[in-house]
Amino acid sequence: MSEAKNILLENAKLIEAELDKKYTDESSITGRLYEAQRYSLLAGGKRIRPTLVIETCKMFGGDVNAAIPFAMAIEMIHTYSLIHDDLPCMDNDDLRRGKPTNHKVFGEAIAVLAGDGLLTDAFLECAMNPYVSGDCAAVAVSILSAAAGSYGMVRGQAIDMYGEKNELTPEELIELHMGKTGALICASVQLGALAAGISPDDQKMRDVTTFAEQIGLAFQAIDDVLDATSTSDAIGKSVGSDKEKNKTTFMNFFTPEQAIACAEQYTNSAIEAISAYDNSERLINIAKFLCERDK
Ligand code: IPE
Ligand code: IPE
Ligand code: MG
Ligand code: MG
Ligand code: MG
Repeated sequence: MSEAKNILLENAKLIEAELDKKYTDESSITGRLYEAQRYSLLAGGKRIRPTLVIETCKMFGGDVNAAIPFAMAIEMIHTYSLIHDDLPCMDNDDLRRGKPTNHKVFGEAIAVLAGDGLLTDAFLECAMNPYVSGDCAAVAVSILSAAAGSYGMVRGQAIDMYGEKNELTPEELIELHMGKTGALICASVQLGALAAGISPDDQKMRDVTTFAEQIGLAFQAIDDVLDATSTSDAIGKSVGSDKEKNKTTFMNFFTPEQAIACAEQYTNSAIEAISAYDNSERLINIAKFLCERDK
């Protein structure tokens, strides 16, 4: 097994053990809310974002304990974004992480609420991080809200919906991807650096942000390729979904081979941004893996 797969598995185990402690109160008055949240949170997934939080913290010599609440918060926001992304009013998909989508099992109302809860609870997770100062927790909350909100992921999702009915330019497609996918990936490395005591205006923060911007683009280029060329058994979600909805993706401008070549270029730029740091090998391995992934 490749080194990157081991790193992802190691961090997935760590983060899943923490996520498993959440939403265990089964009071009947909440209906199926907590069950729905656990259903999606614990359905697997590659756990790339929490891995980036933890590995960036480690690269800068930080304490992993300080990174874990941030890593959980980002995975909670990512999971909420997937639940809402799959809703009939968005991508209307039936399969996610190899299982029926949240709304297919719990209905739309609970799926919306499960997502709302995960999003909001993520900020509490960050703010209550017992291993960092109050100032650091406040910076973490601002990084996370800027990335998740109307100037980050949500903005990207809105451009994605606009791109179903309107033709986007290649520049607009990059803006879409940097929002819907790149923003949370950037926040992941920033939170990891923050957990290691790096301040937001430090050059190290800028370098890991450049790294994340580039792997974010590579990641979404491959996501678009897999939607067009893979099977739902392999990727655990519907394939052909982008074409069916007339989305604007990398496939509008490139062949799969060309899109993979773009992803390789982004990955090389990412690696260049951090290769001078001691202990950057693990992040570099992850970047290469994300570009070569088949799911
Ligand atoms: C899927 O993300 C949504 C995108 C931003 C492309 P992932 O491919 O990381 O999904 P999981 O977490 O492994 O299910
Ligand atoms: C979703 O992008 C990105 C977010 C959930 C923010 P996609 O719609 O391309 O993701 P998949 O392909 O459904 O996983
Ligand atoms: Mg979508
Ligand atoms: Mg989708
Ligand atoms: Mg996709």
